[in-house]
Amino acid sequence: MEEYITHLNKKFKGLHLEEAFEALASENFKNLAFSTSFGLEDQVLTHHIFSRKLPIEVFTLDTGRLFEETYEVFHTTQKKYNTPIVTYFPEAKDIEQLLAAKGPFSFYNSVEDRKECCHLRKVKPLQRSLQGVDLWITGLRAEQSNARQKLRLFQYDDAFGLIKFNPLAHWTLEAVETYIKDHKVPQNKLHQKGYVSIGCAPCTRAITPGEDLRAGRWWWETSKKECGLHLPANA
Ligand code: ADX
Ligand code: SF4
Repeated sequence: MEEYITHLNKKFKGLHLEEAFEALASENFKNLAFSTSFGLEDQVLTHHIFSRKLPIEVFTLDTGRLFEETYEVFHTTQKKYNTPIVTYFPEAKDIEQLLAAKGPFSFYNSVEDRKECCHLRKVKPLQRSLQGVDLWITGLRAEQSNARQKLRLFQYDDAFGLIKFNPLAHWTLEAVETYIKDHKVPQNKLHQKGYVSIGCAPCTRAITPGEDLRAGRWWWETSKKECGLHLPANA
């Protein structure tokens, strides 16, 4: 597997977005899926996939705790491209039990409780969404955090047992913003209010200039600030 990943990374190195998606078609992937949280990077990829009608499922994990502004950009995007965005929810029983036992703000108690909430609201639904998928496309970028610095275009994700493709791995934030502007891609209104990386509402705040791009995520923690979707080894 590592040999194939090395081959892919060599083959795709330096390709433009358009060329990269064209090159994908000559590989043997059968079920391709792209996960979007409607962040800036995700909107670049959604625009690319939807405007070219590529045979890639676009899905989102609705944790139930998203910002109103995130639902707005979800709505605007679905309307603009007139294409479905498959939505995965957490299991009702998981959330009913969590709320009954620990209430609606358990994530502020401890890193352990926060990870439990992320596991039930994000990781478990992701496991369902990736069933049968052999290429998982994400909007991850190396610049987003220290843990992501070594991010490669392709990597094998041990946690989910599939190949992950991060087409924007080496894009700068500026390049992402320029693409969004040039192609008039809908974006989350919160970006104008100092939010960069946006997750669930109770766990995300705006950042100030100079702060780490992910400083607004789980800001009360000093932990590695990952929710389990992307483990550092596969980040
Ligand atoms: S997270 O692990 O901290 O939540 P981040 O917000 O940086 O991840 O997003 C990185 C990538 O993970 C996104 O480009 C997207 O592919 C995927 N992702 C994150 N959150 C979601 C979500 N709620 N639904 C679908 N995909 C998501
Ligand atoms: Fe729960 Fe916060 Fe994780 Fe969202 S980001 S799943 S609300 S702990």
